[in-house]
Amino acid sequence: MAKFTQNHTTYSSSSTLKWVFLTCCVVLLGAALIADFFWASSSYSSSAYSIITSSHFEKTATLVVRNARVNNASQKEVVGDKNERAPERLLSGTFADIPAPDLPWEEMPPAPVPRLDGAAIQIKNLFYVFAGYGTLDYVHSHVDIFNFSDNTWGERFDMPKEMGHSHLGVASDGRYIYVISGQYGPQCRGPTARSFVLDTETKRWSSIPPLPSPRYAPATQLWRGRLHVMGGSKENRHTPGVDHWSIAVKDGKALEKKWRKEVPIPRGGPHRACVVINDRLFVIGGQEGDFMAKPGSPIFKCSRRHEVVYADVYMLDDEMKWKVLPPMPKPNSHVECAWVILNNSIVITGGTTEKNPITKRMILVGEVFQFHLDSMTWSVIGRLPYRVKTTLTAFWDGYLYFTSGQRDRGPDNPQPRQVVKDMFRTKLSF
Ligand SMILES: *[C@@H]1O[C@H](CO)[C@@H](O)[C@H](O)[C@H]1NC(C)=O
Ligand SMILES: *[C@@H]1O[C@H](CO)[C@@H](O)[C@H](O)[C@H]1NC(C)=O
Ligand SMILES: *[C@@H]1O[C@H](CO)[C@@H](O)[C@H](O)[C@H]1NC(C)=O
Repeated sequence: MAKFTQNHTTYSSSSTLKWVFLTCCVVLLGAALIADFFWASSSYSSSAYSIITSSHFEKTATLVVRNARVNNASQKEVVGDKNERAPERLLSGTFADIPAPDLPWEEMPPAPVPRLDGAAIQIKNLFYVFAGYGTLDYVHSHVDIFNFSDNTWGERFDMPKEMGHSHLGVASDGRYIYVISGQYGPQCRGPTARSFVLDTETKRWSSIPPLPSPRYAPATQLWRGRLHVMGGSKENRHTPGVDHWSIAVKDGKALEKKWRKEVPIPRGGPHRACVVINDRLFVIGGQEGDFMAKPGSPIFKCSRRHEVVYADVYMLDDEMKWKVLPPMPKPNSHVECAWVILNNSIVITGGTTEKNPITKRMILVGEVFQFHLDSMTWSVIGRLPYRVKTTLTAFWDGYLYFTSGQRDRGPDNPQPRQVVKDMFRTKLSF
């Protein structure tokens, strides 16, 4: 655009200039339309995962913004993409990156596949990484294992055919991994209530009674001999559930035939961290609403719906009454497997925050947060190499590790783009 202004001053207002300007407008508008068409059609392609969510999940909002600008036909705004990035940098308050100390990240061997909305459990020196979208049209149905002792990705084995492929609830007692409900299939398909158990010693799968109703990305944790499952989204993928159920489990088996009703969580919704520490259960962050299947779409094509991301923190203790704790430093969601417990604190990496209030685009989070259990306070202890959501996080031998998720478009643009398989680590000490 700087060019246009220069031309304008050089040639002043001649009719030639007007003709040049109009031609340029037409060409640029045409280019924009072609780009939109390519974008729209490319979301049907299953090959390149780099286009899946950013172009796809973001399409509606992007188009609205772009059209609005084109319609206003001020010469500054016709060009589109480059100029559209400007507002992202001007974010204020809640939406902005929070100043954070530098952490030196070391690149580790990437995971065998890229993953969005996958799940993970660390058991000692092994990191079990489950399921997830590879692209919006393709979901994984296997487990990859990373070995922290020699920093290699090794074994891979299949999940049961009936198990969900994303938005799972997971918890472990150190040997058995419980895998609860979740979405079955790609795009924005329906959920399953079916729930499974992996014995990590034998690599055998078994099942436990299905949830009373299926949930997408419910908060899930083992606490006092019972598996607790709460929140998540209901069957349509969008409506927040507040139900809370539990079932007694031991050594990978359910000791009861049915899930028991527990005290509902004050605020519903998916994609929250659920952590048990010091015999208390914490539920951190999350959102209300999510993408849902376009009505009548034979492939259950995802379409964006209203979402509210929140910073809320809730806790259950002996009293079995939900207590409200200090909120996260900013609203944050998609952190269900993005946390570790470290020295009486909870460390959370990345996520998504509230959408940009002007462009309505999604904004990813790049901070590393720490919640101190002794003082019940939050701090920001560093920044990831990029903003990223649904990372899978672990801690081993002094290092904080993360892998997978969907990263931003670059330092100046916090919108989601590529689904990654990268793995990084950084040395942490408080
Ligand atoms: C169009 O742009 C001008 C100048 O930036 C602004 O004052 C005006 O409100 C805009 N009109 C609409 C309809 O957005
Ligand atoms: C993990 O790596 C260590 C060190 O190489 C090795 O001794 C161990 O057997 C590995 N564990 C698995 C399950 O592969
Ligand atoms: C946790 O505490 C132990 C013992 O005080 C210390 O050695 C270790 O470095 C701490 N870990 C982190 C990540 O700071």
